[in-house]
Amino acid sequence: MYYRTGGTLDREDMKKMAAEKAADYIKDGMIVGLGTGSTVEHLLPKIGEAVKNGLDITGIPTSHKTKKLAESYGIPISTLTEHPEIDVTIDGADEVDPQLNLIKGAGGALTREKVVAYASKKEIIIVDETKLVQQLGSYSPVPIEVIPFGWYPTKLIIEDRFSCMAELRKDEDKPYTSDNMNYILDCEFDGIGDPRELERNLKEIPGIVETGLFVDLVDTVIVGTREGIKILER
Ligand code: 5RP
Repeated sequence: MYYRTGGTLDREDMKKMAAEKAADYIKDGMIVGLGTGSTVEHLLPKIGEAVKNGLDITGIPTSHKTKKLAESYGIPISTLTEHPEIDVTIDGADEVDPQLNLIKGAGGALTREKVVAYASKKEIIIVDETKLVQQLGSYSPVPIEVIPFGWYPTKLIIEDRFSCMAELRKDEDKPYTSDNMNYILDCEFDGIGDPRELERNLKEIPGIVETGLFVDLVDTVIVGTREGIKILER
C-alpha cells in the first residue's frame, strides 16, 4: 500500500503508517520478534486483529511491557528457549544512519532488543522520518546498560576514554532499572564516526552489558514520511 498524505501528518501518524506497513511482512506460521516503544505499540493491535482473524504466529517480546500489551491483544507469546530462531523481528529506533545502523534504547529495552535482533533471520525497523540522520549521535545519546555494581567508576571510565557525558538514567529520584535489573547510562557523543569501533571499544569495559548501537543488524527500515512510506533496504 502507498499513502499520499498531503503533508498534514504528525509524528504519531507517520509512526502508525510505518507500523501498519510492517504488518505485511508477517506471514502465517512465523515466529515474530516484537520490539518495544511507541511505534511498535501501533503494530501490536494490528497483529492482534490478524490473529483474531486466523493468523497463526508466535511472538517473542523484547520487554515486559511489550509482553503484557501483546497478551492483551491476544497474540500468542513464547520465549527464545522455546524458539531460538526468529523469522522476522519488527522494532523501533531512535536514530537510523544511511548504512541502516541504529541507536536504540530510549525505552530501556536495548539488551533484549539486541539479543532478539541477533536471533532473527530478518530485522525490520519502523520509524518516522525524524529518526533519519546522516551520522549516529546527532541528536540521541547512546544508552549503555551497565550492572549496578560499580556503575559509577564505569561511568567515569566511559567519560574519560570517549570524551563524552554519561548520565545515569533516572526514574523520578531513583536509578531507572531495566527488565534485566541493570542501570542505564545515557552517553552523549558529538557525532559517531565509526559506530562499530565505538561499540567494540565500549564492550571491552567490565560492567557494560550492552550498548544501544546496532551495527549491521538491520535488513529493512520502513519510514513513515509526510509524503508517504519509504522503504530502505540494506
Ligand atoms: C526501546 C527502543 C525503541 O524502539 C526506541 O526508543 C524507539 O521508540 P519509539 O518508537 O517510542 O520512538 O529502542 O528500547
